[in-house]
Amino acid sequence: MKQFLKNIILEAGKMALDFQRKLAELTVERKSTTQLVTKADQAVEEFLLREIKKQYPGHAILAEETGSHAGREYCWLIDPIDGTTSFIHGQPFFSVSIGLEQEGQSVLGAVYLPALSELFEAEKEHGAYCNGRKIQVSSRNRLAESLIATSLGCRGYTPLNDNLNHFLAVKSYLGGIRITGSAAMHMCYVAAGRLDGYWQINIQPYDAAAGKLLVTEAGGRYSDFANGTEHLYREFIASNGKIHNELSEILLAPER
Ligand code: IPD
Ligand code: CA
Ligand code: CA
Repeated sequence: MKQFLKNIILEAGKMALDFQRKLAELTVERKSTTQLVTKADQAVEEFLLREIKKQYPGHAILAEETGSHAGREYCWLIDPIDGTTSFIHGQPFFSVSIGLEQEGQSVLGAVYLPALSELFEAEKEHGAYCNGRKIQVSSRNRLAESLIATSLGCRGYTPLNDNLNHFLAVKSYLGGIRITGSAAMHMCYVAAGRLDGYWQINIQPYDAAAGKLLVTEAGGRYSDFANGTEHLYREFIASNGKIHNELSEILLAPER
């Protein structure tokens, strides 16, 4: 399954990059006020669904553009293009993200950034890799020296689902902050020690499925702001583990 995942994600990334090279021909549609979609997202997802259904007809799939496809034991979680806004603007910060769960447990994950030629792979209990090289999280243990990523809502966000109060609460404690527009990429960078942590409000299972395994297999941690998993997709933190508590304490009570 690992080799199959590698083959399809490389092909999917190549498709996405080919679409980006013809950006002027792509029409951008809105799924909602904040959510954009292009023919590229749909075509990459169609390709992945076709390949998985052919190879593993009994498996379930959850994919961003088409939703749930029923199946048993295994579930593939697919974000065909994570970072569509960056993609549409001709930036290299977009990825194809695919996670595989067996009975709800992450067993495989891969994130491919075709414009940066980087393939991140993780297998349960077998470590995390970037282009075949083993990766691990950073060893920084003070927030003051840490580089952290997040995401900020713009048009269509209300004070209720906005991240701005968390951003304002955290920023003066940090060494630096980055926003690339791809949640999966941020998690790969935490796994590779290029970022020390990442947080986001309202993330989707298909955004995080591969990234979560990459982070833990590289020695890091993920949780909700209260250090549990109950509200994981509402309040998500991934980190090198060493700054996790310091970061979560501030995020849990940003108004303090
Ligand atoms: C988005 C990106 C972005 C995050 C958004 C996601 P998409 O995914 O991961 O970084 O802040 O919450 O929806 O729409 O480009 O697949
Ligand atoms: Ca996404
Ligand atoms: Ca997407």
